[in-house]
Amino acid sequence: MRVLVTGGAGYIGSHTCLELLEAGYEVFTLDNLDNGHIAAIERVQHITGCELGFAQLDIRDEKKLKKVFADFKPEAVMHFAGLKSVSQSVAEPLLYYDVNVGSTISLLKAMSYAECNNIVFSSSATVYGLPKYLPYDESHPTCPVNPYGRTKLFAEEIINDWVIAQNPRIGTVLRYFNPVGAHFSGQIGEEPCGIPNNLMPFIAQVAVGRQDYLKIFGNNFDTLDGTGSRDYIHVVDLAKAHIKALESQFRLKPFQILNIGRGKGITVMELIEAFEKASGVSIKYKFVNSREGDLPAFWANTSLAEKELNWSPRFDINQMCKDTWYWQSNNINGY
Ligand code: NAD
Ligand code: WQD
Repeated sequence: MRVLVTGGAGYIGSHTCLELLEAGYEVFTLDNLDNGHIAAIERVQHITGCELGFAQLDIRDEKKLKKVFADFKPEAVMHFAGLKSVSQSVAEPLLYYDVNVGSTISLLKAMSYAECNNIVFSSSATVYGLPKYLPYDESHPTCPVNPYGRTKLFAEEIINDWVIAQNPRIGTVLRYFNPVGAHFSGQIGEEPCGIPNNLMPFIAQVAVGRQDYLKIFGNNFDTLDGTGSRDYIHVVDLAKAHIKALESQFRLKPFQILNIGRGKGITVMELIEAFEKASGVSIKYKFVNSREGDLPAFWANTSLAEKELNWSPRFDINQMCKDTWYWQSNNINGY
């Protein structure tokens, strides 16, 4: 089966391309390298020994996109391409609507023209907003509190309307919680451009001396130790969930939303402790004020994904830290 992956030079996209190739799929990926790395493409090919087709393009370019569909003739699409910084989305909302919503529209137009009817979409737990109850299940109200979360929710709705408009279209939406970790080879991993917004890459950069110390945003939350609690999921577990989603599409609802997490909350302090154990490196940190908009704690109800995809996460926080450390210590300055 031929699968077109958008954003395949990025963190989650590259890990998913690897799993697709190892599962025997033919894969072509598009990426404008805005936040991706060509080295990730090369290393996925090296690890798997398989060819990973690649074109550097912005998927909002409808003309070039149509040509890729005409040449590669994909039977399904996995759509990772997009911008993902909450803080940047607050500062530059129109950029986020243009990229995250605009690219989804141009992609669906190209899919319609090519009669490619299957899409798996990268959404986010950010669509839920303030918890009415926890853990979040897929029926939890969606009320995102930032432009980034709204772009994800709008893209979900657009995909739903596209599915409804014509049979036999299928849209599977995966709402990721907090992806971390790296492929066990240590050859591909998370390498954010600039100073990391997210906790795990920041800790990893402190461990290799790229950052002086970690600022812990608040230690007075109503959690185990007062620091923020999140549902971390190994990026390889997440990538494998995409394969399962593709293989399950024939028996899922035409439009299906699924939470992808581990269903467990881990605090910042617990993550630091696990990382120090995995790396043997002490992580310097200071407590500072909580970050604007940060929720104290949230985690996923993953029962629907486990039932519908016959998938369950395999790796715990210790493995996530081990694999992050192996990646970062072998690639101190990233790709
Ligand atoms: P990433 O930035 O590593 O990967 C995104 C890729 O898309 C990058 O390689 C970038 O160059 C590419 N891209 C961006 N705009 C593009 C465009 N217009 N045309 C072509 N390529 C474009 O991010 P990631 O962490 O791998 O996330 C992948 C997807 O998962 C994103 O849609 C993100 O919103 C979503 N997501 C990520 C997280 C997370 O914590 N990492 C959580 C939930 C959802
Ligand atoms: C995790 C915990 C912080 C950094 C974000 C996006 C979300 C999704 C995943 C795209 C929190 C604390 C963090 C630091 C810290 N991305 N922290 N010091 O905020 O749960 O989610 O990434 O979809 O949309 O919002 O992840 O890694 O930023 O924070 O103390 O330097 O670590 O307060 O409790 P978050 P995160």
